[in-house]
Amino acid sequence: MANLEDVQRRALAELASAADSEQLEAWRQKYLGRRGELTLYMRSIGGLPAEERPAAGEAGNNLRRLLEQSFAERQESVRQMELARSLQAEAIDVTLPGRRPVVGSIHPITETLRRIRDVFAQLGFEVFRSREVETDLYNFELLNMPPHHPARDMWDTFYISENVVLRTHTSPGQIHAMRAYCPEPIRVILPGKCYRYEQVTARHESEFHQVEGLAVGHNITLADLKGTMTAFAKQMFGQERTMRFRGGYFPFTEPSVEVDMDCALCHGKGCRVCKNTGWVEIAGAGMVHPNVLRNGGYDPVAFSGFAFGMGVERVAMLLHGIEDIRSFFTNDLRFLRQFGQLL
Ligand code: FA5
Repeated sequence: MANLEDVQRRALAELASAADSEQLEAWRQKYLGRRGELTLYMRSIGGLPAEERPAAGEAGNNLRRLLEQSFAERQESVRQMELARSLQAEAIDVTLPGRRPVVGSIHPITETLRRIRDVFAQLGFEVFRSREVETDLYNFELLNMPPHHPARDMWDTFYISENVVLRTHTSPGQIHAMRAYCPEPIRVILPGKCYRYEQVTARHESEFHQVEGLAVGHNITLADLKGTMTAFAKQMFGQERTMRFRGGYFPFTEPSVEVDMDCALCHGKGCRVCKNTGWVEIAGAGMVHPNVLRNGGYDPVAFSGFAFGMGVERVAMLLHGIEDIRSFFTNDLRFLRQFGQLL
């Protein structure tokens, strides 16, 4: 019995100082476990004289109840303490500003391509996709430039082999579109990349984008071309824009024109972008040459058409007042981030 009092005293004192669940478990093993002190005491009762056993058993059971109850209470308060500690350690300050996820934005050329597409969509033009690697046949010959034709010099060409080139303009797509649509009327735009073996300057890159336009049908005239280009310029750059059509030369159109617009940046007064002329060229264009119509499968007596090709970087430069075409392709994020339209 004296031993039992000693167990009780030690057990309660140690329980009071158990500060975490590990110490609690060690305590439980020490006193209440299979080899714990109280268990051993209970087992030893069998060896006592019979008259002492009931009292010793009752004392042992009382102590077990006391220890189990004290253990449960201590366990609960340790659990509360541990919870409080972990809440404090993992505390989140919900008033801190959040971290913005990095989200890309659309490249200004892609954005410009989409705007051009939207304007022409309103005018009834579909998008026709065409390839970037072309044969000499499509890039030149079917566009009325047989081998050794001097007009080929207008396009400094990257050759993949003698007969395969990186397209120098989107015009070969005209032939693909005509052959796909013939004999139906056509109203398409052909957007895409072009490549030229070019001295890179503030206005010229060796890789750039064009949007070709092609309309083929009955009674299509130069007036339709002028109306379409004017409508495009006004939608894209503002209703106050005025146009100028100058005679030009392309082997695949006859007549050919250069399409100018008054400079949207200086309103015709003269600035660096328009080289102080007040005008900027936005496209080459013309009436589709009869030979080209024929190469596309159309009879030039029954059908006529107009075509144009505009430089997309040029349009983007005018829209945003950008003075150097190289800015588009150097991947300088300080430049690109100014065009914030999110994906
Ligand atoms: C052509 O490429 C003709 N295929 C356009 C055409 C189509 C005429 C249909 C008639 C009918 P040009 O070489 O002028 O034409 O180029 C058209 C536009 O592409 C230019 O006005 C310019 O904006 C753009 N461009 C041409 N070369 C480059 C270059 N190296 N870097 C950036 N843009 C260029």
